Amino acid sequence: MNSKSSANKSLVLANWKMNLSASQSVNLAKAIAKSLSRLPGVEVGLCPTFPALAAVGQVVKGKSIALGAQDVFWKAAGPYTGEVSAAVLRELGVKYVIVGHSERRQYLKETDIMIQQKILATLEQGLTPVLCVGETFAERQAGQKDMVIMRQVTAALKGATLAPKLELVIAYEPVWVIGSGQAVELSEAVHTAQVIRQALMDIFSPAMIEKQVRIIYGGSVDPTNVAAFVKQSPLRGVLVGGASLEAKKFIDLVRQL
Ligand code: PGA
Repeated sequence: MNSKSSANKSLVLANWKMNLSASQSVNLAKAIAKSLSRLPGVEVGLCPTFPALAAVGQVVKGKSIALGAQDVFWKAAGPYTGEVSAAVLRELGVKYVIVGHSERRQYLKETDIMIQQKILATLEQGLTPVLCVGETFAERQAGQKDMVIMRQVTAALKGATLAPKLELVIAYEPVWVIGSGQAVELSEAVHTAQVIRQALMDIFSPAMIEKQVRIIYGGSVDPTNVAAFVKQSPLRGVLVGGASLEAKKFIDLVRQL
């Protein structure tokens, strides 16, 4: 379950995607947990592939590192072959659930409605959704970036309520920047975080946004650029793909904060 205080902390979430085997995930989690035991002001979360969740959960259990999942299904239980419910994720000790990552929107054809259903299911189990939003290069070139972001945030959070202990993370991830090795300019990430905040104003109260919602940045974050994205309000953390796959690099990244 969410601890009341975690929304005060900066968040560094490692998205391992489908890059590691189950045993590699466990070894990486062990190396990270060993080096990053005490982290005042920063919360680290590890998001392994589904089959490695239980084992990585055992590694981080009792440590100040959170467990995250890369996806969830919107139904609680039933005949949905291949899917995983938020209840099962919770049972495994998951706290963060990535929802609507651009790779799933692209390859699995996830729609705004599917993403909205996943957000509701995640919150219902007391878990923290990490809603990913971001424009494609074509949308950016067409001058539609802010509109796309506002549409994605508004659609995904339709009907969502944040009871006092619940939290929400929104990750701004420009699709064209993911895995490119070149993050966006800080000013652009800050501007987009303000657009997200503006969209949230129509959904939640300012006090809820302040206490229960964190906006983070993702897209080619590495040890050299991480500090700026975490320390520049309203950004409160990062979602890290490539740079989270090697223990030394990821530990170095977290130590910049
Ligand atoms: P990247 O991935 O850090 O490799 O760009 C980020 C993400 O897709 O979450």
